[in-house]
Amino acid sequence: RIAGPSGIVIFGVTGDLSRKKLMPAIYDLANRGLLPPGFALVGFARRDWSREDFSTVVHDAVKQYARTPFSEDVWRHLAEGFRFVQGSFDDDVAFDTLAATLADLDEVRGTGGNHAFYFSIPPDAFPVVLKQLKRAGMCDHSEDQWRRVVIEKPFGSDLKTAQELNSLVSDVFPSESVFRIDHYLGKETVQNLLALRFANQMYEPIWNAHYVDHVQITQAEDIGVGGRAGYYDGIGAARDVIQNHLLQLMALTAMEEPGSFDPTNLRREKVKVLAAVRLPEDLMAGTARGQYAAGWQGGEKVPGYLDEEGIAASSQTETYAAVKLLVDNRRWAGVPFYLRTGKRLGKRVSEIAVVFKRAPHLPFAKGDTAELGSNALVIRVQPDEGITIRFGSKVPGPAMEVRDVSMDFSYGQSFTEASPEAYERLILDVLLGEPSLFPQDEEVELSWRILDPIERAWAKARTQPEPYGSGSWGPASADALMARDGRAWRRP
Ligand code: BG6
Repeated sequence: RIAGPSGIVIFGVTGDLSRKKLMPAIYDLANRGLLPPGFALVGFARRDWSREDFSTVVHDAVKQYARTPFSEDVWRHLAEGFRFVQGSFDDDVAFDTLAATLADLDEVRGTGGNHAFYFSIPPDAFPVVLKQLKRAGMCDHSEDQWRRVVIEKPFGSDLKTAQELNSLVSDVFPSESVFRIDHYLGKETVQNLLALRFANQMYEPIWNAHYVDHVQITQAEDIGVGGRAGYYDGIGAARDVIQNHLLQLMALTAMEEPGSFDPTNLRREKVKVLAAVRLPEDLMAGTARGQYAAGWQGGEKVPGYLDEEGIAASSQTETYAAVKLLVDNRRWAGVPFYLRTGKRLGKRVSEIAVVFKRAPHLPFAKGDTAELGSNALVIRVQPDEGITIRFGSKVPGPAMEVRDVSMDFSYGQSFTEASPEAYERLILDVLLGEPSLFPQDEEVELSWRILDPIERAWAKARTQPEPYGSGSWGPASADALMARDGRAWRRP
């Protein structure tokens, strides 16, 4: 799977995402021999950079963030395909220059007219950039050349804005040319969920309401909002992570086996799950929202959200969100899916825990099973990628005492190949025109349909999110949500 002749144009190339993820991923792909020899990378931004300045920025980003070792040879070859176009989004001349640059690259690098436009820009800039691409004749597809658009989240801020964006984009690019990034789908461990479920015989028979008590999907971070106040404030944890990453993980966990991994089949099964999601009747009791307060993390004193730079002292943005969802179908009837995400929590961890019902009868003496929990299968998305199975085991000794133990699969121990970064996989798939790992418009809209009523209930309540200490596991209301159901959050 090596990409054919092609290039990428990045809008928003001076941003963090571009420096920390996109530039290093492009280099790593080149280093692994997965890019075509004449690959081209074009940066577009207002900054007054020369081609050399741009090259230096990419070089520094690669040195700092690339996964694979630095090779002078690979770098030199790749850098020959760099171009920089300076201008603002309303500048016709700059877009004409961009069009001329692409035509020139087709000549000198052999990119063959195949170009992907990567939108690493705020959604309010989409309309003008799309208009410019169209005006300057850069969206034209033909039998022998492709044009694609890659869109970073946030994909709207509610159903209405997502629909508006979808229709805006589809006016310019046909749906098969639109690649919406959800970087969780680019993670090896997330794709492995499909292998776990559908390449094996032993899990699927118990993957249902007969055996599963509930599912917990966690995305926890130890960092705070950092330098992203401008984006994050007003958006919050639910829109930032639940609407996209966590609902995608839930869909992959709950969906039926697709007839094949053909993109249409895979998406169809995910869509069925999202369409079957039911919200708790009492939205306030079935959800929790929190905001981190000052505290200690990693031996350091850290500020509370309201004291972070760029955050208004009265901000009601949540940095923690938990929701309980049900899936109305035969497989999952009555099985709650608890989704939670938060910043400044106890540690950085993303996982999917499938928690099984207790054994219907325990033929042991009272007290022998005091430390026995429920069986659980935990997909450790990151870090420490792998899978854990928790089950009861006899403690060695004369008594029949049973206690929980873990059985582990760890990527590091089983595979010598290092996992590629999510962005490497996704950028390569864009160039290959392989859409399976990109949510399509219907999935995005269904996800907003799930989140919108929750956001409305929160907005109506007008309450400040409940403070939680940095380094803790979130607000007390999140524990109360579980306790009401007779359950508790896992401590990963
Ligand atoms: C992004 C969110 O999509 O995912 C960030 O905007 C979050 O707020 C990030 O930090 C988490 O990604 P990962 O891969 O580190 O879990």
